[in-house]
Amino acid sequence: MKSLVVGNWKLYVGTIPEGKKLLRSIDKKFPRGSRALVAVCPPVPLAVALKKEYGGRRILFGTQDVSYDADGAHTGSISPVTLKASGIEYVILGHAEKRALGDTDEDVSKKAVAALNAKLHPIICVGERERDDEGSHFSYLAKNVSVSLSRVESAHASRLTVAYDPLWAIGESDPPAARVVSEGIIFIRKTLVELWGRDAAEKTRIIYGGSVNAESAKNLVDNSHVQGFLVGRASTDAESFVSIMKAFT
Ligand code: PGA
Repeated sequence: MKSLVVGNWKLYVGTIPEGKKLLRSIDKKFPRGSRALVAVCPPVPLAVALKKEYGGRRILFGTQDVSYDADGAHTGSISPVTLKASGIEYVILGHAEKRALGDTDEDVSKKAVAALNAKLHPIICVGERERDDEGSHFSYLAKNVSVSLSRVESAHASRLTVAYDPLWAIGESDPPAARVVSEGIIFIRKTLVELWGRDAAEKTRIIYGGSVNAESAKNLVDNSHVQGFLVGRASTDAESFVSIMKAFT
């Protein structure tokens, strides 16, 4: 399976001209021989407008959330069917910043199924809020993963990406040591095996998010089991985002 580098633009990019400038710059600097898929996830109106305008094939488009309702009386929601029909391919689900506003593991699981039914590729964020020396964050993580994926059938394992994106690591100056990232990824893989069995579990891509930057990306690729990155701040600086992609060349 190919690695995946995802740029979560959050609300860092506010207008279509700003988005176009950033996208053009990423496209221009795109590393030759990249082995990773690359997706950017701007706010929905930007994602749709940029996708429509972008003539290339190497940058894919995603958004940062979606409704679990495909249609009906749901004012203010955005259906996964609408996203797919607008050229969107990926959707980040259950990011810590959405969970802080009320998204539960159950909600994430329902959104994942709706996204899969619409033929989108969900990127499901999981991760403990804090760590402790006794390791009790692992029981939090186990429940977080198994409930967030509880409605997803193992037959869809290969269309899913799980992002180990612990709250305590987001917005810091550096990501955690590769050993800590690896530990989280191995634990998530083990939880997927318990959920679906080994064959299906091996088909799901597991990426890491939380303060990834150009300096740390290569080290994490070389020294952890990571299959890609979910990048926040550094994804809105073309130079930094491209340097992160270079870790997969
Ligand atoms: P950051 O964000 O790269 O700015 O730490 C990562 C995230 O929110 O997943």
